[in-house]
Amino acid sequence: MNDLPPYDFATGNTNAETFPAEALAVTAAAVIRRLGPELNRYPGKLGHAGLRALMARREMEREGVAVDPEHIFLLNGSMQGVTLMAEALCNGPGDPVVMEEHCYVGTVNAYGGLGLDRVGIPVDGHGMRMDALERELTRLESAGRPAKFIYVLATYQNPTGSMMPRARRLELIAIAKRHDAILVEDNCYADVHFEGAKEPSLYALDEDVKHIYLCSLSKIFAPGVRLGYVIAKPPLLDTLLARRHDAGPNTLAAAIVEAYLRDRLWEHCEMANKALKAKRDTMLEGLEQHLGNTCSWSHPVGGLFIWVRIPDDVDMDKFEEEGAKRGVTFARGKNFYVRDDEIPYIRLAFGYPTQENIRAGMPELTAALNAARA
Ligand SMILES: Cc1ncc(COP(=O)(O)O)c(C=O)c1O
Repeated sequence: MNDLPPYDFATGNTNAETFPAEALAVTAAAVIRRLGPELNRYPGKLGHAGLRALMARREMEREGVAVDPEHIFLLNGSMQGVTLMAEALCNGPGDPVVMEEHCYVGTVNAYGGLGLDRVGIPVDGHGMRMDALERELTRLESAGRPAKFIYVLATYQNPTGSMMPRARRLELIAIAKRHDAILVEDNCYADVHFEGAKEPSLYALDEDVKHIYLCSLSKIFAPGVRLGYVIAKPPLLDTLLARRHDAGPNTLAAAIVEAYLRDRLWEHCEMANKALKAKRDTMLEGLEQHLGNTCSWSHPVGGLFIWVRIPDDVDMDKFEEEGAKRGVTFARGKNFYVRDDEIPYIRLAFGYPTQENIRAGMPELTAALNAARA
């Protein structure tokens, strides 16, 4: 296992204390005995039917829409879907993909690595800005190179933590339709919810066939199981599956997790969220106590991150160095920026460190920041 620094606030890992290792081990032994020869076969492109049925139920119970399990295909983590979208829907380097200007680092890097033209749309406290989206889609069309798709994090946006309100969701759907654009919704944090009303996902507001939905079990269960999925309808579903050449998703992981979560999905979410909320609160208190006069930050109602505005005079390289000396890591704002410029923000992750380490790490983070100021 990688050695993590004691105050690892950099990575979107989740709560180790609520991972049901012992109970899962019992389930795993029974599942392996039951599966037997099924593990000697390739899983096919959609993957384990039982987990697809459970994920259809998860979506139905959360979003209130019926999902056909035949319109779900499993992934080795939703990140595989992020890349698959681009490979299936783009022709090659230079193709424009529209996304939030501040966006999940995995997507920023994957699309950059494929040489795509990452067209960044500014975000505010409510997510992607619709005036800018409309303008960019129109600009691309006028240039004869319409966007291949719009990639959006409407719920618990990573890194900013924002929740797009319903009116803006509806506007986004209307804009996508007006421009005949494919909408790729990444709902990776779907069930990591702490308080307040939840907004419905985009596909629940509109079951358009040009809508693609990505979700995961990483954030509510464990990233190490590498289980995520896509929901899409034909003919888009077929386009995506035609690009899948990995011999299918992991049957063993899917079968074990399905057997474990089948009768306790929401019970598990409730337990995991209670622990995550307590960690979020501890980190928010730490920020208030140590950096209240220096920084401002988001108050996420779900997800795993706090987006912190730091003073302009902080030297970011020095901040990282000073942090490393004190065992603190954080994610630098520029990693999430499609333009890769330095920005005075950091993202703090609270899912994995213990409450004690969050408490003890905040003064260290503060000392590192102060040492890096001009
Ligand atoms: C927005 C978003 N999408 C996708 C992923 C990838 O998650 P996984 O591949 O573990 O499902 C992450 C992980 O941090 C994320 O934040």
